[in-house]
Amino acid sequence: MRVLVLNGPNLNLLGTREPETYGAKTLNDLETLMMERFPEVEFTFEQSNHEGMLIDSLHAARGYDGIVLNAAAYTHTSIALRDAIAAIEVPTIEVHLSNVHAREEFRHRSLIAPVCRGVISGLGMTGYILATEALLHPDAT
Ligand code: DQA
Repeated sequence: MRVLVLNGPNLNLLGTREPETYGAKTLNDLETLMMERFPEVEFTFEQSNHEGMLIDSLHAARGYDGIVLNAAAYTHTSIALRDAIAAIEVPTIEVHLSNVHAREEFRHRSLIAPVCRGVISGLGMTGYILATEALLHPDAT
């Protein structure tokens, strides 16, 4: 089982970036957490602040079993990311650390949600764990 965990702009600053919203843990902590939790999964972890780089990462994930994607602010703006997700046909789960629906209005709309298998928002890093769980067991009841 190969899973790409792809994080978008400003998420490299996790741990110091608005900790009251995004928590005190770093991106490194997230990677350790996921590898410890799912030793059977072959993870690829990537982060970029650049829209085109994120698109390249999505293209390169063709053939993977799943993608856990926190597109950060591009969630709300990027038709290009949406088209890339639709093009690669890899089950993709949209994740947000914060509850975007409890925040500013401009964060309520996701351009990528319609082409994602599901959306998890507001559960912090647990959301990444749950997304991976859903990729591993899509039909659990
Ligand atoms: C975020 C929510 C986005 O609205 C914001 O732009 C981010 C992070 C989250 O994980 O809560 O950068 O995706």
